[in-house]
Amino acid sequence: MWILGIESSCDETGVALVRADAGQALPVLAAQALHTQAAMHEAYGGVVPELASRDHIRRVLPLIQQVMNEAGLGLAELDVIAYTRGPGLAGALLVGAGTACALAAGLGKPVIGIHHLEGHLLSPFLSADPPAFPFVALLVSGGHTQLMQVDAVGSYVLLGETIDDAAGEAFDKSAKLMGLGYPGGPALAALAEQGNPQAFALPRPLLNQPNLDFSFAGLKTAVLTQSQKLGAELNASKADLAASTQAAIVDVLVKKSVKALKQTGLKTLVVAGGVGANQALRKQLQSDCRKLGARVHYPEPDLCTDNGAMIAMAAAMRLGAGVELPTSNYAFNVLPRWPLAQKTA
Ligand code: KG4
Ligand code: ZN
Repeated sequence: MWILGIESSCDETGVALVRADAGQALPVLAAQALHTQAAMHEAYGGVVPELASRDHIRRVLPLIQQVMNEAGLGLAELDVIAYTRGPGLAGALLVGAGTACALAAGLGKPVIGIHHLEGHLLSPFLSADPPAFPFVALLVSGGHTQLMQVDAVGSYVLLGETIDDAAGEAFDKSAKLMGLGYPGGPALAALAEQGNPQAFALPRPLLNQPNLDFSFAGLKTAVLTQSQKLGAELNASKADLAASTQAAIVDVLVKKSVKALKQTGLKTLVVAGGVGANQALRKQLQSDCRKLGARVHYPEPDLCTDNGAMIAMAAAMRLGAGVELPTSNYAFNVLPRWPLAQKTA
């Protein structure tokens, strides 16, 4: 079965083809293409929703053509078309949903709307070292920070989440305060490599609370206060401030993940979402999880941030597990706010 996946929830247009066959251990990625709008939004210091939607419109059809050519496949050979239904920017989501449903209607093929975070969550199943259920998932992106217990495809229990900013937002906002451009996460991480993570004592909110929730809003205020205090000295201390900021975010993410593993008794952690590309986070998770006898799994580096492969993969796994059937009702709506799992405790 050939599944085409389309992702357009934010500032990346991602398209991919996944092949899923009965009897096959896991679906496999056959082709993928991505266009990132980062350079376009950089001048504004963040994503401009209307510009994002218009750019998705320009990119989506050529990208679909590109993956079809790469796989040597004709449109008529597609079996299912998957798209990101939410959460995300309404206008941006509508481009992917509209394209998927129009294409599917034209071809007479079924469609399936996928939750963006489920895509991130299941993306490590496309890696060379896929996890096995059940596991704890740490979802860390620009819009979300959640710890989840994943027992099977479609079985997600929210263990904890951020009560304000997401981890990626904390990276991006701190980077912006330091004049590092957009998106700031990778830039801040690169600068942090030359700095001393202990140079500045920055807050680690909720770290000692018994629950698994996060709070990052106070961190950017602390970074702002510290930058103002440094004044003209900021440039000379920027690498130290970047390293200290990264250390504060990483410390909280790692300690809460370890707490979630202990609380659930699970020995597998899956890290997904853009911040999962952070090397300092990976290093500290590796050493802390090893002490617990737990293993950490990641998506392939190019599948950490938004992409179409994770959407096609989530569709393949939902269909394969019998959790959902695709539909031939082409009336669609998008869900800009859509919780993946309700918190039970
Ligand atoms: O998952 P993603 O591509 O998009 C959302 O769904 O939000 O995540 C993007 C986020 C941004 O905040 C970006 O700064 C952050 O992931 N990010 C990083 C790194 N690479 C991407 N943050 C820290 N270190 C990185 N290496
Ligand atoms: Zn994402």
